[in-house]
Amino acid sequence: MSRNMITIAIANQKGGVGKTTTAVNLSAALARERFRVLLVDLDAQAGATQNLLDSFGPQDKVVHDILVTGRSIAEIILPIAAGFDLAPSDLSLAALDSELALKANADGRLRVALDDVRDRYDFVFIDCPGWLGLATLNGFVAADFVVIPIDCKAQSLETVPRLKRDVLEVSRFHRRAIGLLALPTFYEQRLNLSRDILDAIREQFESATLAPVNKNTKLAEAYVRRKTIFEHDPTSAGAMDYLRVAKEIAHVANAQGSGARRGSRSTAE
Ligand SMILES: Nc1ncnc2c1ncn2[C@@H]1O[C@H](COP(=O)(O)OP(=O)(O)O)[C@@H](O)[C@H]1O
Ligand SMILES: [Mg+2]
Repeated sequence: MSRNMITIAIANQKGGVGKTTTAVNLSAALARERFRVLLVDLDAQAGATQNLLDSFGPQDKVVHDILVTGRSIAEIILPIAAGFDLAPSDLSLAALDSELALKANADGRLRVALDDVRDRYDFVFIDCPGWLGLATLNGFVAADFVVIPIDCKAQSLETVPRLKRDVLEVSRFHRRAIGLLALPTFYEQRLNLSRDILDAIREQFESATLAPVNKNTKLAEAYVRRKTIFEHDPTSAGAMDYLRVAKEIAHVANAQGSGARRGSRSTAE
């Protein structure tokens, strides 16, 4: 049975906007919803890998090796939880731009690698680094959707036009539509600034704006404890928010004729 794997890059060249928190917790949420999920850590700082493994990925079995030495992605994937796998990262990714500079298909290597596991997953999330280098470009080329976390606490929309332009360019040169979704993060209902930024995001992205993720200390705590929010505090606002966004994403993907669930077990546990 061939299913349509949906690949979603989480990107914003601004740091600290919640990319890694989103990649980890959306992956965990969709795995809990019985989807088969792979999280690819494309960041040399390896925040997602450290969150889930409490260490960097094992030597020579990290995303760098699939992009640079052509190792098969199946060889580096590690199981995290039921239906939730990780392609781990480490600091070796930091040299990616110079290592791939004159190599063939420098920006399309992740896409090719993911072809090997197309039947194994419903969703692939890609945690991109906080800059627009070759790693992020590999994320865009592999992506069906790019989710842009935008924090509701600063002049955060400023980085978005450049990001949009880059995604559009990939879309044009690869002759393929890439959906853009905005995810408001660090939302604080009681603050005027936060509400203003959310309004501005909605004005710009209209129906492509996902439900906001509230600022929630439990999310930061979960990261420090090396847990997903569902392990750390499944009743927290952070867990509820990410579950809601995960369902929205499943819905959007479903509208594309995909997203069949693992097995036939009930989602209620
Ligand atoms: N909604 C949130 N509420 C509170 N803290 C958050 C939230 N999202 C992320 N954080 C914390 O903010 C910091 C930056 O988040 P992170 O996901 O690493 O951002 P990025 O990957 O964009 O750099 C981390 O310490 C994380 O735990
Ligand atoms: Mg990060």
